[in-house]
Amino acid sequence: MKAKIVSLPGDGIGPEVVLEAERILATVAVKFGHEFEMQRFPMGGCAIDEFGTALPDHTLAACKESNAVLLGAVGGPKWDDPKAKTRPEVGLLKIRKELQLFANLRPIKTYAALLESSPLKAEIVDGVDILFFRELTGGIYFGESGRRPHPSGEEAFNVMQYSTEEVARIVRLSADAARNRRKKLTMVDKANVLEASRLWRQVSAEIISKEYPDLEYNVVLVDAMAMHLLSRPRDFDVVVTENMFGDILTDEGSMLTGSLGMLPSASIGSAGPGLYEPIHGSAPDIAGKGIANPLATILAAAMLLRHSLSLEAEAACIETAVDKVLANGFRTKDIARGGPALSTSEMGNKVLETLLAL
Ligand code: IPM
Ligand code: MN
Repeated sequence: MKAKIVSLPGDGIGPEVVLEAERILATVAVKFGHEFEMQRFPMGGCAIDEFGTALPDHTLAACKESNAVLLGAVGGPKWDDPKAKTRPEVGLLKIRKELQLFANLRPIKTYAALLESSPLKAEIVDGVDILFFRELTGGIYFGESGRRPHPSGEEAFNVMQYSTEEVARIVRLSADAARNRRKKLTMVDKANVLEASRLWRQVSAEIISKEYPDLEYNVVLVDAMAMHLLSRPRDFDVVVTENMFGDILTDEGSMLTGSLGMLPSASIGSAGPGLYEPIHGSAPDIAGKGIANPLATILAAAMLLRHSLSLEAEAACIETAVDKVLANGFRTKDIARGGPALSTSEMGNKVLETLLAL
């Protein structure tokens, strides 16, 4: 197969972890006889410095022409000034919207080898396997927003807005995924307070009862979900929720696995290239030190092969290699619990060697 893959290394540790994932993809191409044309483009703070915008037109155009996009991370203190004309995060939101990536898949799976790295008790996190579907191009992130005068000075507002169609398409995607897993779907909302949540509840109940009667479907309020995720995470299979609830719950969920450095994510739409990235940020505190954990980005590359190129065997091969490396006791600093730790590139090498030997 021939495929065009655009990589957007971004800021902070982004370039370091993306490099390892690119090496893995290049190795997979050789091992399985594919041709991946990989090219890097600027995005994020580095693009603001060079082009005055976080998502330059030529970067967006290259992404649109590609089969898939691999992203590192964007942002950092240098671009954090609230008064700045633009911010790295603007580029991220724009690329999601432009590529119509309305579904953000965030698998939260614990590794037997890493149970001790979780701040939670091993008996609670052992065997957790949740697939989050976070709505990504709607809600409060994209609703009307602004400031207006107020007797006390100013007033600021962000509107949470959803249409039937926006809810329906992601609920269907998540329900399809549940069908191929343990057949449990949980919809998370705040229907006791928010009108937007009441629409979510209505639309999803209708779709599930008509089209997916075979699923075990339940609804949970977001505040309760924050609690259940810590007390009984094994009870969940597929979880679907709106944009901001998904943002918050998946960061919380990542702690079940011990490190934010382990979790990949896939953002997909109904057509066109998908966007694959680690769920961690640019970690400016450790940038340039060569100690970042590249596994989340390597696992994002596996999701890229699976979801955008339909290369299931290749994806599984990367995941198996990561499993083995961890089972063999290799760790980066974030998951080493004070023990010996590999550098970013050493960890990349371990996965490469293991992959080649499979
Ligand atoms: C994420 C991030 C982004 C988000 C930020 C950086 C805009 O936190 O991908 O989860 O809130 O969506
Ligand atoms: Mn987030």
